[in-house]
Amino acid sequence: MSKGSRLFVRKPLSALTKEMEGEHRLRRTLGSLQLTSLGIGAIIGTGIFVLTGQAAHDKAGPALMLSFVVAGLACVFAALCYAEFAAMVPVAGSAYTYAYATLGELPAWIIGWDLVLEYAVGAAAVAHGWSHYFQDFIGIFGVELPRQIRSAPFDYDPALGELVATGSILDLPAVLVTTAVTLVLLKGIRESAAFNAAMVVLKLAVVLFVIVVGAFYVDPDNWRPFAPFGYGGLSFFGHTIYGQVGKGGEPLGMFAGAATIFFAYIGFDAVSNHAEEAKRPQRDLPIGIVASLVICTTLYVAVAAVLTGMVPYTELSIDAPVSDAFARVGLPWAQFIISLGAIAGITSVLLVLMLSQPRVLLAIARDGLLPRRFFGAVHPVFKTPWKSTFLTGFVVAALSALLPLRILAELVNIGTLLAFLFVCAAVLVMRRTAPDAPRPFRVPFYPLTPILGIVICLVLMFSLPTENWLRLAIWLLLGIALYFGYSRKHSALTAGQ
Ligand code: ALA
Repeated sequence: MSKGSRLFVRKPLSALTKEMEGEHRLRRTLGSLQLTSLGIGAIIGTGIFVLTGQAAHDKAGPALMLSFVVAGLACVFAALCYAEFAAMVPVAGSAYTYAYATLGELPAWIIGWDLVLEYAVGAAAVAHGWSHYFQDFIGIFGVELPRQIRSAPFDYDPALGELVATGSILDLPAVLVTTAVTLVLLKGIRESAAFNAAMVVLKLAVVLFVIVVGAFYVDPDNWRPFAPFGYGGLSFFGHTIYGQVGKGGEPLGMFAGAATIFFAYIGFDAVSNHAEEAKRPQRDLPIGIVASLVICTTLYVAVAAVLTGMVPYTELSIDAPVSDAFARVGLPWAQFIISLGAIAGITSVLLVLMLSQPRVLLAIARDGLLPRRFFGAVHPVFKTPWKSTFLTGFVVAALSALLPLRILAELVNIGTLLAFLFVCAAVLVMRRTAPDAPRPFRVPFYPLTPILGIVICLVLMFSLPTENWLRLAIWLLLGIALYFGYSRKHSALTAGQ
C-alpha cells in the first residue's frame, strides 16, 4: 500500500459488524422511547437555559425564534444522515466510526479529534451554565459567592469587541460539578434508562412550565421590532456578506443567532453512541435520533417566543435568562422551580457528554490510533475506562475554570458543525462505495438531504466569528501532528504495512 493510500484506508464494514459480535458487547436493552429520552436528556441544557439570553440580547432579538428553526433544520438533515449510519453499523464511536468506514483513516482521526471539541469542550461550556444557575439558585436564599470564585477570569464583550477582566479568578462551582460528575463516572455509572427518564420528565416539566405560564405574561410589543439586527448574519472568514456587523466586527442577525444557539441542539448524536445498547437498532435508533430532535426544536422555538415576549430583548439576562424573566414579571417563586430544573437538566447533559468522550477515545484506541494502554484501560472493579474518564474530567475542569462560556460554546459549535458535515458527506460516499450494503434506514430525498445538510452546516460555520476558524485550524493542525507523530505508526488496520 502506498503511503498516500494508507492515509485513506477504510475500515471494512465486515470488521465493524464483527465488533458487534464480540464478548464485550453491551447489553441490548434500550427501546425507542428510552433512546428518545436519552436524546432529550443530552440535548436540553445550557443552550436553552443560558445561551438564549446572549443570542437574543447580542445577535438576533425576537427573531431568535427563527434562529432556532434554522439551527434545528441543520440538525435534522445531519440527524437523518446519522440515522442511516447508526442503523447500518450500530457500534460505538459515532461519527469517528462512520468516517473510518467511508472516508478513510486520516479523515476519521480528524473527526475523532474534532469530537473532543464537541464532548470535552462542550462539557466545559455546559459546566458554566450549571454554575450560572447554581449561583442563581443560592441567590434566592441570599447567598452570594465571593467575586473571585464566581466565573472565568475574563469574558468577551461583544459591545467593546475585546476581552474584559471579570475580577474573578476561576469558576469554582463549574470545577466542583465537573469533579463530582467525574467521580460518579469513574465509579461506574450505569446510565440507567430509568434515571434518565426521571431527568427528562423533570426537564420537560420545567420547559413546559416556562412555555405555558410564560405565555400569560407575553407582551406582543416586546416582539417589535422582530429582527432588530436583521435577518442576516452571514459572513465569510470575518467579512460579513449579508447583514449587520457588531462593534467587535462580528456578524449580527438571525443567522448569527442560529450559529450561536446551535449549541442547544448538540447531544442528539449522543443517541448514536448507544447504538450497541439498542434492542432493535435498525428501527429504534432512527426514531430516537429524529424524534428527540423534533421534540426539542418545537420546545425551543416556543421558549424563545415566550422569553422575548416577556422581557424586551435588550433587558434579557445573559447568565440566567429564563429564571430572570420570571423574576421580572413578578413571579420570583418560579425562579426556584426553574433554577432547580435547570440545574438537574444541565447535570444530565454534563453527565452524557462526559460519558461520551471516553467512549469515543476508547473506539479510537481500539483501532490503535491512540495508546491502548491508557485510553483502552478498563478498571478491573468498576469496569469503566477510568484513565480516559479521569483525563476528560481534568481537562473539562481546567477549561471551565478558566475560559468564558461564549468562547467555549462557539468553539464547540464550529467543531460539532464540522462533525455533522463529515457525517453528511460520509453518507454520499457510502452510497457510492457500498451501494448494496443493507440499509435498514435510508435518508429520505437522497441526495438532497445530505447536500442540504452540508450547505447549512457550512453557512452556520461561516456565520461564527472568525477567530473560531483560527482556533479550529490550530486544533486540527495539532491533531494532524499527533496523527503523523503517533497514530499512523500504530494503526491496527495498517500494522506492518
Ligand atoms: N445541547 C446541550 C446543552 O444545551 C449541549 O446544554
